[in-house]
Amino acid sequence: MSHTRRIRLSASAPQPEAIAAAAACIRAGGLVAFPTETVYGLGANAWSSKAVEKIFRAKGRPPSDPLIAHIASLQQLPELARDIPAIAYQLAERYFPGPLTLVLAKAERVPSKLSAGLDTVALRMPQHPVALALLRQAQVPIAAPSANRFAGPSPTRAQHVLDDLDGAVDIVLDAGSCAIGVESTILSLVDSPPQLLRPGGLALEELRRIVPDLRYAPRYLEVDDTVPAPGSLRKHYAPRARVLLFSGEEYAVQAAMRKAVLQHESAGILASDTDLRALSDLPVPTARLGANAEEAALRLFAALRALDRQGVQHIVTRMPPNHGLGLALRDRLLRAADGVLVHV
Ligand code: TXA
Ligand code: MG
Repeated sequence: MSHTRRIRLSASAPQPEAIAAAAACIRAGGLVAFPTETVYGLGANAWSSKAVEKIFRAKGRPPSDPLIAHIASLQQLPELARDIPAIAYQLAERYFPGPLTLVLAKAERVPSKLSAGLDTVALRMPQHPVALALLRQAQVPIAAPSANRFAGPSPTRAQHVLDDLDGAVDIVLDAGSCAIGVESTILSLVDSPPQLLRPGGLALEELRRIVPDLRYAPRYLEVDDTVPAPGSLRKHYAPRARVLLFSGEEYAVQAAMRKAVLQHESAGILASDTDLRALSDLPVPTARLGANAEEAALRLFAALRALDRQGVQHIVTRMPPNHGLGLALRDRLLRAADGVLVHV
């Protein structure tokens, strides 16, 4: 493939011609990048092994890493999953469409390429009008990982997709920026008690109202912030620059960030408005995370990409607070930092 077609369309009222072109491409076994409320996805017909295979190739993703299948209606749940527990329907009725992915036992018909040979499948109904319109028109479930190169920062704008995958995708549907900015929350209902596999756009506190016994036990949260996290995390969401991640009391972290900027060659700062004000005298590139976790989620991946573009070799930043969307931000930053957290 050599040419990627970029089709601009309205996020709230997507033009039918644009959706028709993209849906035809999916049905013909092609690759379409499309916006969801979390991040842009790289979509292909989930029923087709050959189409799904193209996703892995385009991303450079190892075949051992399963994909999420996106659906447009609850009626599709039993087409893709089996032995669906009642709690799955309760969650789906409340949070679909939205930033939640459910892992269920896989229906026979789902290609094993999609699930990377597992007997489970991850399902999500995105909330973005463009994603929903595409799914409805294509009339097939769409397998879609984030539309970035494997292990890099996820794309929250169509330009990010083109920066990573121009020429490797047939169509990019460009409807501007994503509304949430971090990926969906992944919940496994095949484990008992249910397990949070990835914190994301739907807060853990919110999910626990419906699944009180929900377990979230990543190894890096078992160690407290006073010990550097074990290097057991898979490096992911990482920019080219090395991420230097600090935690601790507000002023101590600001002092440590200042020191890191001065000590490291070509450093940049990724920080909240408060931290940026405190460090505003430093003559280095900066990227704003804003005033709260919602703003930070919206900006995080674009900010990592922007600092990379400015050629910094180190990105100095702080561990976000441990609640709400902060959990997703912590997860992404810790992985971007290859599991290394410095407590000061
Ligand atoms: O918000 C999102 O979830 C975005 C948009 C495009 O929908 N998609 C996304 O996909 O983030 P991806 O492939 O970048 O991340 C999906 C994660 C992967 O870490 C994968 O290992 C996990 O979901 N996953 C997929 N199927 C699974 C399964 N059957 N069991 C456990 N984990 C699974
Ligand atoms: Mg991804």
